[in-house]
Amino acid sequence: MPGCGRNDRNWIYVILQFGISLNKRGVAVAEKLLEVKDMVKHFPVRGGVFSRVRNYVRAVDGVSFDLEPGETLGLVGESGCGKSTTGRAVLRLIEPTSGEVSFQGTDVCALNRESMRRLRREMQIIFQDPYASLNPRMTVGSIVGEPLTIHGIAKGKEKEEKVASLLHRVGLRPEHIRRYPHEFSGGQRQRIGIARALALNPKLIIADEPVSALDVSIQAQVINLLEDLQKEYGIAFVLIAHDLAVVQHVSDRIAVMYLGKIVEMASADKVVMEPKHPYTEALLSAVPIPDPTLKKKRMILTGDVPSPVNPPSGCRFHTRCPYKEDRCVMEEPPMREINTGHFAACHFSEKLYGVGPKTNGAPAG
Ligand SMILES: Nc1ncnc2c1ncn2[C@@H]1O[C@H](COP(=O)(O)OP(=O)(O)OP(=O)(O)O)[C@@H](O)[C@H]1O
Ligand code: SF4
Ligand SMILES: [Mg+2]
Repeated sequence: MPGCGRNDRNWIYVILQFGISLNKRGVAVAEKLLEVKDMVKHFPVRGGVFSRVRNYVRAVDGVSFDLEPGETLGLVGESGCGKSTTGRAVLRLIEPTSGEVSFQGTDVCALNRESMRRLRREMQIIFQDPYASLNPRMTVGSIVGEPLTIHGIAKGKEKEEKVASLLHRVGLRPEHIRRYPHEFSGGQRQRIGIARALALNPKLIIADEPVSALDVSIQAQVINLLEDLQKEYGIAFVLIAHDLAVVQHVSDRIAVMYLGKIVEMASADKVVMEPKHPYTEALLSAVPIPDPTLKKKRMILTGDVPSPVNPPSGCRFHTRCPYKEDRCVMEEPPMREINTGHFAACHFSEKLYGVGPKTNGAPAG
């Protein structure tokens, strides 16, 4: 690399030579921290006298996405659509049935136990229920410091100082270090979980519904904390939520999941302002609008998500879609690029929503 000075010619050289690009915030990033291709996770359903496998829960059924360093991808969808299973399978907390996961170019699925343990330093998870995920018999200091001990990173005074600084960073006080999880509020407990996830300086955090168990007033504080941390440390996030409102302001891109598949993916603005899939339209209809004088067309979703054991034929959303046509029942819509960087899996995206931005795009035929 020619010189270390920061001038435009040097940056162009770096971009051309090493496949580095500028992300939405103008930060130079090596492409692709994480790449997930055709991930499948089927859970066996057993029954009968010999507990034979009778069927499979198709929890995740061919999910593909990627993530740049420092990027936040919001993963949204109703309960049971496979968000947590996706997150856990990416980290190999459960073994995927098939598919590929590549983290910084390493084939995660090919790693043995020891290599996977080392890689986990870089990939952390924050759980929905902070109380269940924190050991009630351990002090906060031990909980947050445990990863440092396990990975042999710090001990003694150095560990104590690091734990104190992590607690400070997530908004907890030094005296909290000797207390137990039950002595904290839900929001504080989630902060403890975040401090623990941060301890190993991860490059990726999968946050699985990190605020859905918290009071609405506390949710914004925790989401703001995650956003600050992302900016400060350049951590990439997969932010899982069933509510689009939770992810829309902090995500660079949003992926919408329905019954084991991603049905729409684009920049957060595009998904929220110009959805191209009826399921996203329905999720957006459920997001309250701050100005009560503004009226919007509402699509109310009826019925529950169908069983992932026997998903509907063709388009999985056809049993609840108001725009369903005969083709939808017969033919599964592939994921297509409807507009630059805007992907949706619906046969009729263009007809329903047009191809371009709402302001200047005329709906296609
Ligand atoms: N260990 C398991 N064995 C069998 N089925 C499972 C298992 N874990 C999840 N499932 C099923 O897989 C499907 C997807 O579950 P998952 O927890 O990934 O959904 P989710 O989108 O995270 O939902 P929620 O918003 O309620 O957390 C569900 O039907 C669930 O019942
Ligand atoms: S393919 Fe058909 S059923 Fe599926 S979302 Fe599009 S219009 Fe609705
Ligand atoms: Mg979940």
